[in-house]
Amino acid sequence: MYVIKPISKIKKKITVPPDKSISHRAVILSSLCEGKTRIEPFVESQDTKATLECMKKLGITANLSDGLLTIIGTGMSLKPQETPLTLFANESGTTMRILSGLLSCQKFPVTFEAAPALCRRPMGRIILPLQQMGARISGTTAKDKITHEEKLYPPLHIKPAGEIKGQRFKLNVASAQVKSALMLAALFAKGQTVIKEPYKSRDHTERMLKLFRAGIKVKGTTITCKPINKLVSPKKLFIPGDFSSAAFFIVLGLIIKKSKITIKNVNINPTRCGLLQVLKRMGGKIKIKNKKSAYEPYADIVVQSSELKGAEVKPEEIPSMIDEVPILCVAAAFAKGKTEIRGVKELRVKETDRIWSMVHNLSIAGVDIYNARYKDDEEIVINGGKTYRAYSFESFFDHRVAMSMIIFSMALAHRESDIDDTDCINKSFPRFLSIVKSLYR
Ligand code: S3P
Repeated sequence: MYVIKPISKIKKKITVPPDKSISHRAVILSSLCEGKTRIEPFVESQDTKATLECMKKLGITANLSDGLLTIIGTGMSLKPQETPLTLFANESGTTMRILSGLLSCQKFPVTFEAAPALCRRPMGRIILPLQQMGARISGTTAKDKITHEEKLYPPLHIKPAGEIKGQRFKLNVASAQVKSALMLAALFAKGQTVIKEPYKSRDHTERMLKLFRAGIKVKGTTITCKPINKLVSPKKLFIPGDFSSAAFFIVLGLIIKKSKITIKNVNINPTRCGLLQVLKRMGGKIKIKNKKSAYEPYADIVVQSSELKGAEVKPEEIPSMIDEVPILCVAAAFAKGKTEIRGVKELRVKETDRIWSMVHNLSIAGVDIYNARYKDDEEIVINGGKTYRAYSFESFFDHRVAMSMIIFSMALAHRESDIDDTDCINKSFPRFLSIVKSLYR
């Protein structure tokens, strides 16, 4: 159990860990190059460690020392270190989904296992399109708890395919993991692959593939990917701070009176920063300073205490803030008036059902929050700006729910709250609690 005290007047400059999504991709693409790539900074969170451990079993040499990760890749043909090969994605959906695209095009069979929390998350979304490309990939069938339909889950079994063929895909979910799995398979395919998303999801794979000189073109929500024999390493890769981790302190700085928080060197890729636009509409005082452009843009984000008001969030904005909806619910609880967050049904299949987890936690603290149907999707509605109770919250072992409820508890006027588990935070942000502690000094 972790106890959270209310906080006041924060004046602090902080840094957050390197971006988790970019780190996964940096490890994977560097592994596919011959020769050395230096990735810095690199933090072994539970998820990034899962990708690194898988790649080591696939033949790369990796050395991590003082935040500098050096990878010596295998080239496009991975070299498994054991037969039969079993890989373990632990709880990392990104590891399992993205790597499946790559493993489907290799010349060896693999069993891809996962921890129980990931075994509850759907894999049909990558299995079916990869099968369409000719991949011999299968999952484990089980009944969906809500719809009772038969669906595909981990573990996965992947066998060498005869031929991988380029295809045209029109995805019905905006998912960076799905499109990334398909883009990696497209590198090995015969003919080009075209992927169209309903709305643009995070584009880190596209940017990094360009950096590694793959034949990829992006026009709006359509990606065209050509096969390639060789990726070329940029030799050095800087990983900017994770916007999704910064988001907790962005909201904290806005909702605590007389505060100013600066977060240094944060990735400000527009496909990730939807939360900033929404918070600005809510009246948040947010400044972007020292902007730098590399393959990914990054900058310092400065936030100051603000009188927030409710706002409407449209479904097309959700992909650019998919992991930030829990902390947006916290901001909305402290904003005067109604916030409607529309098009959130994907939150049901994250580490937990995040609609349920956030509605449950915030409503027991007295927040007027509910979820409702919205067209063929769902919405969360919050009537904010009231006074709330401290409580014993539950993380449901979901890192972003735990961090969101800690930030909520810090902003309560009186009394301590507590939360049952904080170990789950290591999934993405191992230093979170030490930063929180430093803010009370
Ligand atoms: C991720 C994509 C998103 C996000 C996840 C990381 C990625 O998932 O929620 O935390 O690195 O590609 P979806 O692709 O399922 O939306």
